[in-house]
Amino acid sequence: MVGLEAIAFSVPHYFINLTDLAVARGIDPDKYTFGLGQREMSVATPCEDAVTLAAGAGRRLLSDFNVDPESVALLIVGAETGIDHSKPIASYVHEMLGLPSLCRSFEIKHACYGGTAGLFTASQWTMSGRAAGKKALVIATDIARYGIGTPGEPTQGAGAVAMLISDNPTLIEFDMDGEGYYSKQVMDFWRPIYSKEAFTDGHYSIACYLDALQHSYDAYRRASDHDGDPYFADRFVACLYHTPFVKMAQKAHRRLLETDAGAPFAPGSPQAKSAGDDFARRVAPSLEINTRVGNIYTGSLFLSLANFLEDQGGRAAGRSISLFSYGSGCQAEFIVARVGERAGQAMKRQSFRTILDGRKRLDVRRYEEILEANGAADLNDSKVCDPNVWRIDGPFVYLGVRNHQRQYVKGKKNNEK
Ligand code: CAA
Repeated sequence: MVGLEAIAFSVPHYFINLTDLAVARGIDPDKYTFGLGQREMSVATPCEDAVTLAAGAGRRLLSDFNVDPESVALLIVGAETGIDHSKPIASYVHEMLGLPSLCRSFEIKHACYGGTAGLFTASQWTMSGRAAGKKALVIATDIARYGIGTPGEPTQGAGAVAMLISDNPTLIEFDMDGEGYYSKQVMDFWRPIYSKEAFTDGHYSIACYLDALQHSYDAYRRASDHDGDPYFADRFVACLYHTPFVKMAQKAHRRLLETDAGAPFAPGSPQAKSAGDDFARRVAPSLEINTRVGNIYTGSLFLSLANFLEDQGGRAAGRSISLFSYGSGCQAEFIVARVGERAGQAMKRQSFRTILDGRKRLDVRRYEEILEANGAADLNDSKVCDPNVWRIDGPFVYLGVRNHQRQYVKGKKNNEK
C-alpha cells in the first residue's frame, strides 16, 4: 500500500479581497465572487518566492506531523514558477529543511500537473521496494501571475502544499490498480521564458480542461473492474478537482456526471439542477481554502485535499474519494484514493482557518506596488527584496540575487513552532 502520511500548506503573508479588486477595476463584484466563486487571493511580495513557500510548507509538515528529516530519502518539487533554467527549487529546499545527503532531490515541471507527476513518481518508488522504509516528500509550489487588468487577474494566487508519501498512508491510500490519464498538445496556457506573467487563451483553456477530464475519467472507468456501472462517480464521498477558480470545479463536476450520463445536461433541466446540488454536497465543502487563496497551479488540487481531510477526514474514514489533476499543455490524471481509518485524528493540527486568518489584508494600491516590484525581484543586485519594506518575517525570506546567486535567510518565524 502507498499514499499520504502527512500534508501541510503555506501561503504568503498577504491577501487581497476580490470585492476590493473588482471595485478598483470597475467590474461588478458579483462577477468575481459568484461568477468565478472567489473571495480572496494570496499575494506574494518580492521576499516570497516558490522556494520560500515550498520550504515553509515542508517545514510545517515536518513539525506538525513530527517527521524526522532523516527519514526522507526523496524530495520532489513540482512547480511551474521557474527560478532558474538549471538549479532546481528542490536544492534550496533540501538544505532549508535539513534533509540528509543520502537523498534524491529534483524538480518536475508540467504546468499544474507537476505535483501530481511527483506523487506518481514517489508512489512508484515506494512500491518498488527500493525505498526500504524511507519516505518521499513531494512539494507543489507556485505563484500564479497574469498581470494587472487582464481577465486572469482575479484568478492569481500563491502558495505551496507539502505531502509525505510512504507505505504507511494514514491520510489516504492511492488505488494503484486503476489508472486514467490523458495527454494532448494544446496551446491553452503557457509562460514564456521571457515573462513572469502567464499567457492564456482563457475560454479555450476551460474547454481543454473539461475535455481532458472527460477523457481521463473515461479511461479510468474503462480500466477499472467496475466497468459498466452507469453511476460510477456515486462511489466517491468527495470529488476534488484542480481548482484555478472555484467555478471551474463546478463546471468539472457537472462534466463528470454528464460523462456518467452519456450526454450533456440541458441548461435548466432537472439533471442540471441535480448536478448543482451534488456539487454543493460533494465538492464545495472542500473548496474553502481555494476560495481564499486563489490559484496556486501545481498545489491547488491539494489545497482541496487538505481542506477535505481536516473537515471530513474523520467521518469519511474507509470511503473513496476522487482527485482530478490538470496541467495545461496538456496532461491530466484521474486518481482514486481511500481515506485512512485514522485520517481525522492525524489531521488534528493547526487549523487551515487559523493559518488563513493570520494573513494581512492589502489595499489595491499596495497590491499594485507589490506586483510592480515583483517584476524586478530576480534581477541581479535589485534592491526590491527588502524584508523591512514588505514586513516579511519568514520562516524563510528571499533577499534577491547577489553576484548572480539567489540569497535566502531564516526569518523570525523560523523559531516559532
Ligand atoms: N454577476 C455574476 N456572474 C457574472 C457576472 C456578474 N456581474 N459577470 C460575469 N459573470 C460570470 C459569467 O457568466 C461566467 O460564468 P460562467 O462561466 O458560468 O458563464 C463567469 O462570471 C466569468 O465570466 P467571463 O467568462 O466573462 O470572464 P472572463 O472572460 O473575464 O474571464 C477566465 C474568465 C477566462 C476564467 C479568466 O479569468 C482567465 O483567463 N483565467 C486564467 C485561465 C484559467 O484559469 N483557466 C482555467 C482552465 S486552465 C487550468 O486549469 C490551468 C491553470 O491553472 C491556469
